[in-house]
Amino acid sequence: MVTIALYNLKGGVGKTAAAINLAYLSAKQGYKTLVWDLDPQGSSSFYLGAEASVKNEAKKILNGEMDLASAIQQSAYEHLDIIPADLSARHADILLSEMKQSKKKIASLLSTIKKDYDVVFLDCPPGISVLHDAVFSGIDWILMPNIPTTLSIRSFESVLQYFKENDLDASKLKCFFSMVDHRKNLHHEVINTFYKDKLFFKSYIPYLSDVEKMGVHESPLETFAASSYAAQCYQDLWKEIKQRCIN
Ligand SMILES: Nc1ncnc2c1ncn2[C@@H]1O[C@H](COP(=O)(O)OP(=O)(O)O)[C@@H](O)[C@H]1O
Ligand SMILES: [Mg+2]
Repeated sequence: MVTIALYNLKGGVGKTAAAINLAYLSAKQGYKTLVWDLDPQGSSSFYLGAEASVKNEAKKILNGEMDLASAIQQSAYEHLDIIPADLSARHADILLSEMKQSKKKIASLLSTIKKDYDVVFLDCPPGISVLHDAVFSGIDWILMPNIPTTLSIRSFESVLQYFKENDLDASKLKCFFSMVDHRKNLHHEVINTFYKDKLFFKSYIPYLSDVEKMGVHESPLETFAASSYAAQCYQDLWKEIKQRCIN
């Protein structure tokens, strides 16, 4: 089982869109795939049409009242399952900060389902917190979408700094550019500078309205725009991820 967290300190950078579209592609290729929605906003859950079945489910998973496996739901797509988030996921930091060995919590929960899945995507809330520390140390890869703008790059650099200061394994960190606007010189300049950095995948996701339409269709991009340029971009990105992180 390979575990990949979609993460950024910043919100609104395309984490959820990537988690869902990459997970869909993974499942389509026959990998048993799970999306674990850790964001109280529940956007991944929404795209896969899932809702927590128990009150305060996210909280109960973290405090041990509920097994991770029993929170898993099937999506409408073959090989693709989801652990939905509810608003109680907002308490994750408080719960974990009251726990001994909180940094090992995500790893120990994931170990209970490791025989059941080939690939697990964790859709993280933005920020850096106790929950993120547990994610950083408990998963194989941290996949970070970055919009090629000044503020976005500042947040990327803060994350790198955080990894350094906390002795975290920065080799887990992989990045791709997201919401790229070809009309903007700044986007080109930032991309060209950062491509020298091996942290970044060559494939990137442009700013495209087909991605936004996932909200209207309440489903992964491929289900309503399989031959679109946007779908092609996620396919290219998935190919690179597979080469570097899965095979
Ligand atoms: N490549 C893209 N092009 C256009 N809109 C996008 C793109 N990626 C995401 N969006 C839209 O931007 C918003 C934030 O994206 P989302 O994936 O939810 O970000 P995050 O999970 O990082 O907060 C959503 O409305 C989404 O539809
Ligand atoms: Mg999100």
